[in-house]
Amino acid sequence: MREGGQVLVTGGAGYIGSHLCEALLGQGYQVRVLDNLSSGRREFLAACEGNENFELVVRDLLKDSFGDALTGCDAVFHLAANQDIRKALTDPRVDLEQNVEVTHLLLEAMRRSEVTSLIFTSTSTVYGEAAVVPTPEDYSPMEPISIYGASKLACEALISSYCHTFGFKAVTFRFANVVGGRSTHGVAYDFVQKLRQNTRELEILGKEPGTRKSYYHIDDCISGLLAGWKAGSDPYEVFNIGSEDQITVEEVADTVCSSMGLEGVEYGWTGGVDEGRGWIGDVRNMWLDISRLKATGWRPQHRSREAVKLAVKDLSSPSSPEE
Ligand SMILES: NC(=O)c1ccc[n+]([C@@H]2O[C@H](COP(=O)([O-])OP(=O)(O)OC[C@H]3O[C@@H](n4cnc5c(N)ncnc54)[C@H](O)[C@@H]3O)[C@@H](O)[C@H]2O)c1
Repeated sequence: MREGGQVLVTGGAGYIGSHLCEALLGQGYQVRVLDNLSSGRREFLAACEGNENFELVVRDLLKDSFGDALTGCDAVFHLAANQDIRKALTDPRVDLEQNVEVTHLLLEAMRRSEVTSLIFTSTSTVYGEAAVVPTPEDYSPMEPISIYGASKLACEALISSYCHTFGFKAVTFRFANVVGGRSTHGVAYDFVQKLRQNTRELEILGKEPGTRKSYYHIDDCISGLLAGWKAGSDPYEVFNIGSEDQITVEEVADTVCSSMGLEGVEYGWTGGVDEGRGWIGDVRNMWLDISRLKATGWRPQHRSREAVKLAVKDLSSPSSPEE
């Protein structure tokens, strides 16, 4: 990729996308964002707007054509997606449309525009309830337990096939749970919002002590994305990305409470479903083997607890949303 090249970020007005845009601009890239602002927010891009190398194009990738948005692009970071895992419980089509169909439309637009470099944000949920934890990238069988996980796995398969059929070069990142400022979903965000409303009681989905998962900080996510992108080898590479440990939901709650200076908060467990899942499709045990990405020289700077602690601090900053 040439110095100061042009990069397109789909979903760039979202939580992770907006941090990525700031980092790319900081490294001298020209950044164009395509986002329909469904869950993304214009104000997340406050630090980018005004930069002459930055452009936000409001567009719905499912309905609108890409037009000339890919013209001159050297690489595409594809983050736009429905990331709400629970939505499919009432509307299973949403993941197929927003994730699989949008990814296919993007791949076709890239093929027509002869843009062949793609970075894709996938998820730990493609593994389903893996029998090997920490789970390596070559774990099988891939057996997602949510429609969201299935849709992301389908996207990965499409991207791989475009690499081998049309000469694309792509890097897929399978994310553990990313916590930090501007998040608009996820357990840490949920707890902060609930505790702002009620400092004495906290409703927790699931059964004590809850699922065990790996959490990592948004800064580690962005540095890992950039490290893996630059190291990815032809034609298709997959990296897990996360932290080096996992914690229970109860530990997340304890960390959020103590970071907010709250003592004696009473936890009200909902009981969840299926022996402790928070909801149908919620993976009980997630921790990714990140040695492949670490081999590029990247290291996560924070473990799960510390990442959650930092996220609570980030979420109190004025640039983070309140419900
Ligand atoms: N946050 C996490 O912990 C996590 C974990 C695993 C994977 N991911 C993946 O990372 C990516 C970014 O997630 P996020 O947490 O920042 O979520 P987010 O909802 O903040 O970002 C998604 C962005 O895509 C935009 N978007 C959605 N549908 C669109 C469409 N049809 N056209 C144009 N724009 C559209 C939204 O407005 C939003 O700005 C997603 O692909 C998600 O699946 C996130």
